[in-house]
Amino acid sequence: MPTLLCALFVIQTLKFSHSKALTNVSCIGTEREALLKFKQDLTDPSRRLGSWTSEGCCEWEGIQCNKKTGHVSKLNLRNSCDGLESCSLGGKIHPALNELKFLKYLDLSFNDFVTHQTQKTLTSLHKLEYLNLSFAGYGHISNQLSNLSNLRYLDLSGWMESPSSAKNLRWLSTFSNLKYLDLSYASLVNPKEWLSPITMLSSLEFLILIGCDLEDASASLPVNFSSLRFLDLSQNSMSSSIPPWFQNFSKLEHLDLSDNDLQGIFPTIILENNQWLKFLDVSSNRMAGELLKNSSSCYNLQVLSLRSNKFSGGIFNAHNIALNSGQSNLKTVDVSDNNFNGHLPNQFGNFKDLVFLDLSQNSISGPISATLGQLPSLRILNLSFNNLSGKIPKNIGLLANLEVMDIGNNQLDGILTQIHFANLTNLIVLNMYSNKLVINVGTSWVPPFQIQDILMSSCKVGPKFPNWLRTQKKVLVLDMSNASISDEVPHWLSNVLSSIEELDLSGNMLRGNISRIIGKKMPLLTQIIEDNRSGRNTFTSDIPLQLCHLAKLQYLSLNHNNLSGCIPHCFNKFSRMWENSTLYFRSTGGNRLDGQIPEGLTWLARLQNLNLSQNRLVGKIPLDIGNLEYLESLDLSDNKLSDEIPSSISNLHFLSCLDLSNSNLSIQSSIKLVMRVQTSASINSIQFD
Ligand SMILES: *[C@@H]1O[C@H](CO)[C@@H](O)[C@H](O)[C@H]1NC(C)=O
Ligand SMILES: *[C@@H]1O[C@H](CO)[C@@H](O)[C@H](O)[C@H]1NC(C)=O
Ligand SMILES: *[C@@H]1O[C@H](CO)[C@@H](O)[C@H](O)[C@H]1NC(C)=O
Ligand SMILES: *[C@@H]1O[C@H](CO)[C@@H](O)[C@H](O)[C@H]1NC(C)=O
Ligand SMILES: *[C@@H]1O[C@H](CO)[C@@H](O)[C@H](O)[C@H]1NC(C)=O
Ligand SMILES: *[C@@H]1O[C@H](CO)[C@@H](O)[C@H](O)[C@H]1NC(C)=O
Ligand SMILES: *[C@@H]1O[C@H](CO)[C@@H](O)[C@H](O)[C@H]1NC(C)=O
Ligand SMILES: *[C@@H]1O[C@H](CO)[C@@H](O)[C@H](O)[C@H]1NC(C)=O
Ligand SMILES: *[C@@H]1O[C@H](CO)[C@@H](O)[C@H](O)[C@H]1NC(C)=O
Ligand SMILES: *[C@@H]1O[C@H](CO)[C@@H](O)[C@H](O)[C@H]1NC(C)=O
Ligand SMILES: *[C@@H]1O[C@H](CO)[C@@H](O)[C@H](O)[C@H]1NC(C)=O
Ligand SMILES: *[C@@H]1O[C@H](CO)[C@@H](O)[C@H](O)[C@H]1NC(C)=O
Repeated sequence: MPTLLCALFVIQTLKFSHSKALTNVSCIGTEREALLKFKQDLTDPSRRLGSWTSEGCCEWEGIQCNKKTGHVSKLNLRNSCDGLESCSLGGKIHPALNELKFLKYLDLSFNDFVTHQTQKTLTSLHKLEYLNLSFAGYGHISNQLSNLSNLRYLDLSGWMESPSSAKNLRWLSTFSNLKYLDLSYASLVNPKEWLSPITMLSSLEFLILIGCDLEDASASLPVNFSSLRFLDLSQNSMSSSIPPWFQNFSKLEHLDLSDNDLQGIFPTIILENNQWLKFLDVSSNRMAGELLKNSSSCYNLQVLSLRSNKFSGGIFNAHNIALNSGQSNLKTVDVSDNNFNGHLPNQFGNFKDLVFLDLSQNSISGPISATLGQLPSLRILNLSFNNLSGKIPKNIGLLANLEVMDIGNNQLDGILTQIHFANLTNLIVLNMYSNKLVINVGTSWVPPFQIQDILMSSCKVGPKFPNWLRTQKKVLVLDMSNASISDEVPHWLSNVLSSIEELDLSGNMLRGNISRIIGKKMPLLTQIIEDNRSGRNTFTSDIPLQLCHLAKLQYLSLNHNNLSGCIPHCFNKFSRMWENSTLYFRSTGGNRLDGQIPEGLTWLARLQNLNLSQNRLVGKIPLDIGNLEYLESLDLSDNKLSDEIPSSISNLHFLSCLDLSNSNLSIQSSIKLVMRVQTSASINSIQFD
């Protein structure tokens, strides 16, 4: 019965609060006037303050009043119109704002305000507890804040102080209640001037100084940040070791020191002292030490990023209490690009929340444990560039949420069958290149995934062209070079390649008409490598005209194939394609291109490398070859080119390699050429007959 009564009471109160009697408690006249003055000085292109006309100012957009007193208590004009400049308010912040003496909350973030030095815009807002001027404009603010002694949240990130404003932070000293301080992107070079005022803030829990040009944090000051929970000093230039005062933290939950130049041993004691640490990012520094081996307890850690440092030692600590009791909360582990060694853990099952695991570019050895299949949340797995060996456990096929698997560049061997992929329904990136793996799936296998990137270079995929590729409709990157495929290019391949961006099938023994690979349905292709280093692809036919439709091509290499006919003449002055690209048709014992070098080639103005050597090209070098002004290397050697070398060749100011040897080019002109190109400083190799 009492419960019911209580419920009725709540309904009554709610009704009451919606009635007129409360909502128009008041709009205090002087405050309304102050707001109108404030509005007057603003620009408001998207009319966000359109409602600022009626009597009841407490109902205006962004305003909240105290229900009892009617005073304006909250002004929130945050521009939440994601990056759209047209929604931002501009103009001056009018000093009339000082009339809002009962304001507790002021958020002007992501607008474009200006304050003037002489104006005292915020000085009397004594009750203010929350001030957010993050990316709100520029001007003089810090010198006006000293009276706001009730501030608990102060966000001045990205607020541009005028150069004449005081650079030191002594004005902070009055904020004994401050809990949250964000001064990101302010330039705070001198540690004495930022660190000592901040250490006075005895209630501080959040300190964010991203990109503040901090160079040295190790000032010999007694620092007692006993209440700090959140510290972000990323994107600075600190090059010291971790300052000793870090050992005084005991309540840290979030520590971000990434993108500095910190050196020395990372003190394990930080982990031991801060049992509530959830987030640790020290990536992109020069820190060392055997952090993972030595730390024995990190129950609460969810994000661990040590990427790009010099950490060493075992990747896994058999004595780690958290792991052994199966209590890890880790979601993200990125320790790539370090010197870690030792073996992988053999009880992955303890990391049941793990989503992201990147151990790449270390020296980790030994086998992959079958318990890897017990990571039900795993989406990203990168073990590449290590020294892992042995077979890949079948259980890997259980990782139903896996999207990215990169195990390239290890010593793994054995046979992968369709069981290894059985439940990988979400896989979009599969990198297994440079191992000793054999892929052996049935010809009628339909993979459970639709892959985007496949890198299987130097795996044994063949001898048949893999039929399962036929089922894939979203392939962007396909590298099956040196994959022991000895087969005819299937007729369906050009369908699979319809959205391809990078293609490498070199070093196999492919046969057939190259137009099955370079088809006109490949508008996004940026890279084709079909040259035969060790294998013997023997494509027949002319170079297809479709080549001229591959507008984004950056790298084309058709070396050592069996191509014949002419270089397509389909380029014209509208061929704004192949910017910075590299074109190789080199052909030792393979290609037999004949005919002339098309004049149209000189329209490919941003070409960087051109190699047409060892064909049977005849005629002149195009007169306008000098149009290819970004050309860095030009090799036309071993052809039957004749006549003069065009003088425009001396326009090629970036040329560093030039080979015109073994043709019938006029020697007279060669000599002139030497004179000309020698004035071009970048040349470092020239060859003629
Ligand atoms: C609310 O507004 C009405 C008229 O709009 C007025 O009569 C009434 O007195 C106001 N109530 C209060 C509490 O100010
Ligand atoms: C200040 O505003 C920005 C963006 O409007 C927001 O990201 C940030 O969290 C706010 N700061 C605080 C302390 O709430
Ligand atoms: C601080 O407040 C006092 C009293 O209200 C006032 O006299 C003084 O000018 C204020 N200080 C600043 C810097 O505005
Ligand atoms: C550190 O600061 C806190 C909060 O101001 C205080 O309670 C504590 O005694 C200080 N610790 C030492 C050792 O001075
Ligand atoms: C740690 O805090 C104590 C108490 O405030 C202080 O005496 C000591 O100097 C601090 N240590 C460092 C390295 O700053
Ligand atoms: C880790 O422990 C080893 C001894 O096992 C010690 O030599 C080394 O200094 C410790 N490293 C760190 C970073 O604590
Ligand atoms: C895996 O890591 C390597 C080296 O750190 C990196 O080059 C590669 O791009 C990563 N793989 C994926 C799929 O992101
Ligand atoms: C990789 O492991 C093999 C044994 O599996 C070992 O012979 C080799 O030295 C290791 N290479 C590196 C770079 O650690
Ligand atoms: C794997 O997929 C099959 C059906 O495709 C399903 O029955 C099975 O439960 C899945 N196993 C796991 C571990 O997800
Ligand atoms: C081609 O693959 C084999 C293994 O199948 C490997 O030994 C060889 O180094 C690879 N060659 C190239 C050029 O990558
Ligand atoms: C290759 O295919 C193209 C387009 O289907 C065709 O025009 C050409 O004649 C073929 N070349 C050879 C040598 O079969
Ligand atoms: C070509 O190179 C220039 C200079 O490196 C670069 O600015 C431009 O974005 C590049 N263009 C493409 C399409 O990659």
